[in-house]
Amino acid sequence: MRCSSCRAPAVLDVARHNAAFCERCFLTHCREQVARAVRHFGMLDDGDRVLVAVSGGKDSLALWDLLLDLGYRADGLHLGLGIDGYSDAGAQRTRVFAADRGARLQVLDLPSELGFDIPSGSRAARRTPCSACGLSKRHLFNAAALEGGYAAVATGHNLDDEVAVLFGNVLRWDLAYLGRQLPVLPAAPGFARKVKPLVRLGERETAAYCVVRGIDYVIEECPMSAGNRHLRYKEAFNSIEERSPGTKAAFYFGFLERITPLVEPAAAAERGDLHPCPSCGSPTVTEVCAFCRLAERARA
Ligand code: AMP
Ligand code: FES
Ligand code: ZN
Repeated sequence: MRCSSCRAPAVLDVARHNAAFCERCFLTHCREQVARAVRHFGMLDDGDRVLVAVSGGKDSLALWDLLLDLGYRADGLHLGLGIDGYSDAGAQRTRVFAADRGARLQVLDLPSELGFDIPSGSRAARRTPCSACGLSKRHLFNAAALEGGYAAVATGHNLDDEVAVLFGNVLRWDLAYLGRQLPVLPAAPGFARKVKPLVRLGERETAAYCVVRGIDYVIEECPMSAGNRHLRYKEAFNSIEERSPGTKAAFYFGFLERITPLVEPAAAAERGDLHPCPSCGSPTVTEVCAFCRLAERARA
């Protein structure tokens, strides 16, 4: 197998692109895919200050590295979620990366700074751990980006993540979620801009990127996500993709091009009127926002 760009021996094939790459050209490929997503979807302007949400896993560490290399002023934000046997490893990998790259990192430890962790928050709010975790992460990323005056908050969602979530939303024809499943959500009063610059890379590519770049990341999946339906959807799509390379990209990018314009108005109509949460000031449709309700119950 030879590199499609320079004909040197290849180390990795990317069937979706009908290409194979040597290490050097593979890094170029990853940078190009991110630059292309950023440009195509208008995610960031040159030199923007961006807050990267970094878990210590392959995707968010690769994202941080790529954004720094592309010249963005990218600071990291790591949340300590208080998940036994998992959270410490993520914090450690994130700190090592920040120190190696001389990048700025903000760490917010939920148990010691907010008085609850995800397992207790999920029990108190009677939500699944992933739902309590997702809700808390969205709230805290947004608050930190607004407070720090960042142009955007970037997360490491990759093509496989977006395909699995899209498939779940389609199975339930959830228009509200479909209308919001975009690689860029623009800033609005009380909301920072949200961007997903890795949507053109699959998780095999982000893992390979970290290996080639010598970035140490947490390999284990979160123990609380075991049995999560998105993991099952990923397995199903991997077996389809193996036989028909390009299916994932066609499904996701076809949705963005052809379906999003149809569902966005329906999704907007489903959203209620927003007002500021009396406790934290975040826009919410319920009286007190879902994050403040969860935090209050978990601390009780
Ligand atoms: P997940 O919800 O675990 O699929 O993660 C999606 C994205 O959220 C990751 O790619 C990161 O950008 C971000 N993220 C997940 N966990 C954390 C964390 N503990 N601290 C900061 N960012 C995180
Ligand atoms: Fe959120 Fe596991 S990382 S539930
Ligand atoms: Zn609130």
